[in-house]
Amino acid sequence: MPSLPPPRTAGTYRIELVCLGNICRSPTAHVVLESRIADAGLDDRVEVTSSGTGGWHVGNPMDERAAATLTGAGYDPTRHRARQYDAARPDTHDVVLVMDEANLADVGGRSARVGLFRDLDPVDPGGEVPDPYYGGADGFEEVLAMVERTSDAIVAALRDALAGRD
Ligand code: 4NP
Repeated sequence: MPSLPPPRTAGTYRIELVCLGNICRSPTAHVVLESRIADAGLDDRVEVTSSGTGGWHVGNPMDERAAATLTGAGYDPTRHRARQYDAARPDTHDVVLVMDEANLADVGGRSARVGLFRDLDPVDPGGEVPDPYYGGADGFEEVLAMVERTSDAIVAALRDALAGRD
């Protein structure tokens, strides 16, 4: 999935980002992608949400280290509250992008609307966004760098996916 699937409807294009806990990786991607989409002027046409396949952290804010990494890079992580993944997502969203292979297995595998977030990584496509939860600060910086470059590519892919109904 180097491009994004075509819109399901003429309404808002819905992107769901998924990891395990929804407190580190997918919230980081959520905040960065939403910021890039706003910069591109596409925020009235695209909605980003995120969730975790596990439910342990539902209702909680972002992991402090993930939040600090985002704040240090000029983003606002404060609005995030963790949600659990709903198996209906591929039927209600235009695309579901997951962080690693375990997430992919947990959501039922690849499909026309389900793939890895880093399928769109312009530098090293097709890999995982590694789980930084049990590691040090470097892991969070690495996640942010992957997420920033991939979010730029996703915005470019969004322009293409949305072009059909301009
Ligand atoms: P995330 O990281 O999937 O990037 O949000 C994790 C957060 C929490 C846990 C695992 C991964 N946990 O086991 O609680």
